[in-house]
Amino acid sequence: MRFVRELTSWLSGAAEADSFPYTPVLAEYHRVGKHFVEKELLALLDQIRAQVTASAPEPPTPAVRLLRDFLDVALDKWDGRYDYRSYLALRLLRLPCGADDGPGEEGDRHGGEGNRHDDGLARPDGARHGRDRLLVRLVADALAFELAPGDLLPEDRPSREVVAKRCRLGVRAASPALARLGLAGAVHDREPATAATLRALAAGLEPSGELPLRLSMLPVYVSHDEYLFIRVLQAYECLFAGLVDELRATIAALAAGRARQAADRLAYAGEQLTAAGPLFSLLATMQPAAFRTFRQYTEGASAIQSRSYKLMESLCRTPEGPRLESPAYHQVPEVLDRVRAGQPSVDEAFRAAVRDGLLSGPDGDLVEQAMRTFAAAVLQWRRTHHRLATRMLGPRPGTGYTEGTPYLAAVRSIPVFTSVTHDPSPPSRTDPTGGSTS
Ligand code: HEM
Repeated sequence: MRFVRELTSWLSGAAEADSFPYTPVLAEYHRVGKHFVEKELLALLDQIRAQVTASAPEPPTPAVRLLRDFLDVALDKWDGRYDYRSYLALRLLRLPCGADDGPGEEGDRHGGEGNRHDDGLARPDGARHGRDRLLVRLVADALAFELAPGDLLPEDRPSREVVAKRCRLGVRAASPALARLGLAGAVHDREPATAATLRALAAGLEPSGELPLRLSMLPVYVSHDEYLFIRVLQAYECLFAGLVDELRATIAALAAGRARQAADRLAYAGEQLTAAGPLFSLLATMQPAAFRTFRQYTEGASAIQSRSYKLMESLCRTPEGPRLESPAYHQVPEVLDRVRAGQPSVDEAFRAAVRDGLLSGPDGDLVEQAMRTFAAAVLQWRRTHHRLATRMLGPRPGTGYTEGTPYLAAVRSIPVFTSVTHDPSPPSRTDPTGGSTS
């Protein structure tokens, strides 16, 4: 077998991290799906990981770090550590995925808080652009696969019409980020060819990120649609990480009595979430039968383990006792610890600012309005998610061991804030998943 030969020859040579034979290893994972990789290869990779770890310089070089992160992701099932974060390879994308604020140093990941002003408040541009670039690259890569899958993940190929629809929706999902990056107008959402333009454009955005992006695609099975599923989830993780930054900045601004800045950060967060709607539409083109096939092998990996989503929720408002003591938070222990340690929230910061007279006049109204708009965006996200899950999953339980859609129905109207009034179930305008509106 090619990968065994290449790995053994790499091991018996200098075994430098930057010459690791990623291509044959990836090819083997893609040929059978992560769930079905032979024990022989897994044992060899495990041996390599031990050797790389033992001989790693301190601090590890970027190449060593990349190799170790890749091996951790590739060996998650072998180690018995398989979960949502390893399934999505969040560490390879340098998105926050642990108890710390992310695996990378400030500035080299996409979950950073941006540059600091003299007044200690974060300036958002750098971090926002980093996430915009990542989102565009994830979507562009998903569309590139739709257009030219080669012999990768051959089961349940979608029709040409579905591929064309995916291209349109994907370009639409990436458009707001492209506009912020000053690249609007380079692509239009009319035909598949524009998805190829998007791919070419994305490749120039972060050339050094091409290898990690390639390594972050390890489907558990060989179903075509799993590629789309993974990239859409990763794109949402990128988005949630951004919302976390915006909410933290909102809290800091409220505490400093900077109402306008707080309103701006929150309004930006709300726009992000709403503008991401086409991502759900894109995922709604997934073939339910294909989804049900590959999800047999994703048992134990569920977005209920999404750290960024729970941080986002708890930064809006401290969750009540029963929610905190439920699987929703017990599956993200590091977020639970933060909440128990008194993590501040927008809701509390708003109340305190009102109490201290920091939010009077029109600026206070702006903050209130931004809170209402953000809450509406979150509630809309939850409703759409519930509808999509109902369509794809039916009455089956979730891979995160909840009863499935009844859980989502129960949590979808949890108030986002309690310090301002907002309607937990306003009528839905259009349904991004293409199903009936609620
Ligand atoms: C085929 C599409 C999807 C289905 C069938 C689905 C299904 C589910 C189910 C059943 C749960 C409950 C937990 C469990 O037992 O697993 C859940 C939770 C969750 N899902 Fe999805 N989901 C889908 C797509 C997505 C996407 C694209 C995202 C974006 C990241 C997402 C984010 C979440 C989050 C954050 C939770 C936790 C909600 C909470 O605990 O309040 N899901 N999903």
